[in-house]
Amino acid sequence: MISALSLNPSFDKTVEVDSMRIGHLNRVKSSRTDPGGKGTNVAIVLHRLGIPVRCLGLAGEDGVDQYERMLGELGVPHGFLHIPGAVRTNLKVVSLDGQEVTEINEPGPAVDEKRLKAFLKLVKDNCRGDEMLILTGSLPPGCGTDTYARLMRLLPIPCVLDTTRKTLTDSLEASPFLVKPNRVELEEVIGRRLPTLAEIRRAALQLIDAGARNVLVSLGGEGAMLVNPSGALYSPGLKVKVSSTVGAGDALTAGFVAGFAQTGDFREALRRGMAAGAASVMTDGTQLIRLEDYETLLDRVEIQEV
Ligand SMILES: Nc1ncnc2c1ncn2[C@@H]1O[C@H](COP(=O)(O)OP(=O)(O)OP(=O)(O)O)[C@@H](O)[C@H]1O
Ligand SMILES: [Mg+2]
Repeated sequence: MISALSLNPSFDKTVEVDSMRIGHLNRVKSSRTDPGGKGTNVAIVLHRLGIPVRCLGLAGEDGVDQYERMLGELGVPHGFLHIPGAVRTNLKVVSLDGQEVTEINEPGPAVDEKRLKAFLKLVKDNCRGDEMLILTGSLPPGCGTDTYARLMRLLPIPCVLDTTRKTLTDSLEASPFLVKPNRVELEEVIGRRLPTLAEIRRAALQLIDAGARNVLVSLGGEGAMLVNPSGALYSPGLKVKVSSTVGAGDALTAGFVAGFAQTGDFREALRRGMAAGAASVMTDGTQLIRLEDYETLLDRVEIQEV
C-alpha cells in the first residue's frame, strides 16, 4: 500500500467563459468540480494505474463529506481528520477564446499544533506497513516549514516529496527517497539559473549532498532528468497535443512511483512517469490522465544516460 498525504485538499472548480474580461460580468458556459490538491491528484492517478493507494489528510469540516464522497466515487480509499473551517475551493476560469486559464486559489483552513499532532498520530498508526509515503504540495496555513520533515521521521519508509522553497530545503535532512522539483523550483533553492542539463545535474547533486537520495527534475515539454549518486538518466519530452499542463508534475510523480513500486527499477519508473506526465497534458484541466493515452505513450519514451 502507498499513502499519499493531502494536507490542504481543495475542490477544483473549472468554469468556462466565452472570453474572460476583468472588471466585467463573466457568464459561465459550463462548470465542473473535481476533488483536488496535489496529494489527492497523485492518489487518483496511482489508483487509475492500478496501484493500491490511500489518500490521508486534513480537511475542513465544512465540505469534507462531499469531498470524501467524491473520492469514494472515484474508488480511492481515504481517511481525513476533520478540522474547523471549510474545504477550500480553487477556481480555474478557462477563457474559450484564447484557451488561457485564470486561477484563483483559496488558502484553506489553518491547522494548529494540536491538530497537526493528531494528524501525525493518524499517519503513524495507519502507515506503519506501507511501501511508500507521498508528501506533495504547499502546506496549509499554520504549519511550519519542517512539517514534512516531521512526517518523514515518523516511520522508516521511503518518502517522495514534491514541494518548494524553504519547505523543500527544511525537508532534505530527513532523507527523502525522492524529491521532484521542476526547473524553476530547483533554481529557487539553488539560487542560480540552470540553463543546461549539466548544470541541472550539478544542482540535483547539491540536493543529494543535503540529504535527498534521488532527485527527479521535471522540465515541462523538455522532459525530465533523474539524478542519484550512481548516475543520471534523461528522458526528452514526448511530442503530444497539449490541452492543459495543470497537474503534469503530479502525474509524473504518480507514474514514477507506480513504476518503482512494481519493478524496483529506476529506468522503468522514469519511463512510466514520462508516459503519465505526457498523458496528463493531453487532457483538459483537472481530468488527470486517460489510461489509453498512458499505455500508448509508454512505447515512445526514450531514456538516455547522461
Ligand atoms: N508540453 C509538454 N509536452 C509533453 N510533456 C510534458 C509537457 N509538459 C509537461 N510534460 C510532462 O510532464 C512532466 C511534468 O511537467 P512539469 O515539469 O511541467 O511539472 P510541474 O511544473 O511540477 O507541474 P505542476 O506542478 O503544475 O503539476 C514533464 O517531465 C513531462 O514529462
Ligand atoms: Mg509541480
